[in-house]
Amino acid sequence: MFKSLLLSILEILTLKRIFNKINNCHNTEDFRKLARSKLPAPIFHYIDGGADDEITLRRNTESYEQCDLVPNVLAGVENIDLSTTVMGQKIDMPLFCSPTAAQRLFHHDGERAVSKAAEKFGTMFGISSLGTVGLEEIGSTITTPKMFQLYYHKDRGLTDSMLQQCQESNFDVLALTVDTIVTGNRERDLRTGFTMPLRLSLSSLISFATHPTWAINYFTHKKFDLPILKDHINEANFVVNLGEYFTSMLDQSMNWKDAEELRKKWGKEFCLKGIMSVEDAKRAVDIGATGIIVSNHGGRQLDGSRSPFDQLSEIVDAVGDKIDVICEGGITRGTHVLKALSLGAKACSGGKMYLYALAAGGQKGVEKALGNLQSEMIRDMKLMGCTKISDLSRDNIRFR
Ligand SMILES: Cc1cc2nc3c(=O)[nH]c(=O)nc-3n(C[C@H](O)[C@H](O)[C@H](O)COP(=O)(O)O)c2cc1C
Repeated sequence: MFKSLLLSILEILTLKRIFNKINNCHNTEDFRKLARSKLPAPIFHYIDGGADDEITLRRNTESYEQCDLVPNVLAGVENIDLSTTVMGQKIDMPLFCSPTAAQRLFHHDGERAVSKAAEKFGTMFGISSLGTVGLEEIGSTITTPKMFQLYYHKDRGLTDSMLQQCQESNFDVLALTVDTIVTGNRERDLRTGFTMPLRLSLSSLISFATHPTWAINYFTHKKFDLPILKDHINEANFVVNLGEYFTSMLDQSMNWKDAEELRKKWGKEFCLKGIMSVEDAKRAVDIGATGIIVSNHGGRQLDGSRSPFDQLSEIVDAVGDKIDVICEGGITRGTHVLKALSLGAKACSGGKMYLYALAAGGQKGVEKALGNLQSEMIRDMKLMGCTKISDLSRDNIRFR
């Protein structure tokens, strides 16, 4: 009795401390710092890192800083409508959660927390093939639009099983990732020895010991697994080094014909994630895709590749009237979203903008991060003299 009372008090005090810290996070960088203090180093660097010299990772955000917004005034801006429709999905704000792997490593609630936070903001939630909560659970709890990200596996039975899980769980959009034919050279992961789940070694044990709250949560909640793949991998000795996973399980012969067949088999909204060239954007239209995510995988794949925002105008000019163009990578501010929409993106999406917050405080953390970005977008729209997304155009943006 006394023990459980003590535990409850401790729990309340810990929660209060967490919420206070979350409430002091006013932007993505604040959440990044908090996540860094909470996560064992290999996990933090898995989220935070990019490929090779991380030039593309940095450029993704920097590219937004090389142009300026030109506001109009006296526009009567008391009511702002941030809603938009992308790939047939009506969302309440033009920013959604990109699919990212292994979220239960970052916080024990993982995708459960992110999907509920996304639902609260009326925006789309994307889940990865390497998700750590089952599609059925997400499908039965979330009423807002859901995207499933598919890695194209050599094992066609696995691809079919994932499509079936998506159909049964009422997923709305299928996103085929096309920029990960091999994994990028993520040197931080090589240095820290990152694997899924974390392989026990002296350094990971030290990391756990120095982050006891994370470790207690991780080891006292449901064992880490990958439920979407589970019937097709050997769980007994399952430790995924990402490089090995991509090389051994994904099909490097994937081509346009395969993408088109997949679209037909799926039969609903279909997009390609990781399109960067105008030529490929046109091919995406030819195979009947309804969207393209202009993305370099958050700078985690081909270092030295252009940033999505730098590449956006060319792509919108070529195909913007035929397909929904989504801009993704490096977004940390509401003004970044407004700039991409001004160039003609239909919506934006992001990974790290909610992942640091997930690590910092689970669902509450993600809600605070999405809330910060939503408030920024509303405030920025008012300051721009715009009341709805369609008011934004190239007239209100200049490159230096
Ligand atoms: C930790 C992490 C895991 C990711 N896992 C996947 C994945 O499983 N599948 C995928 O298509 N993209 C994955 N991505 C890429 C994201 O979907 C998205 O392209 C990227 O995060 C966008 O850049 P941003 O983080 O700067 O917003 C991952 C990104 C991060 C940061």
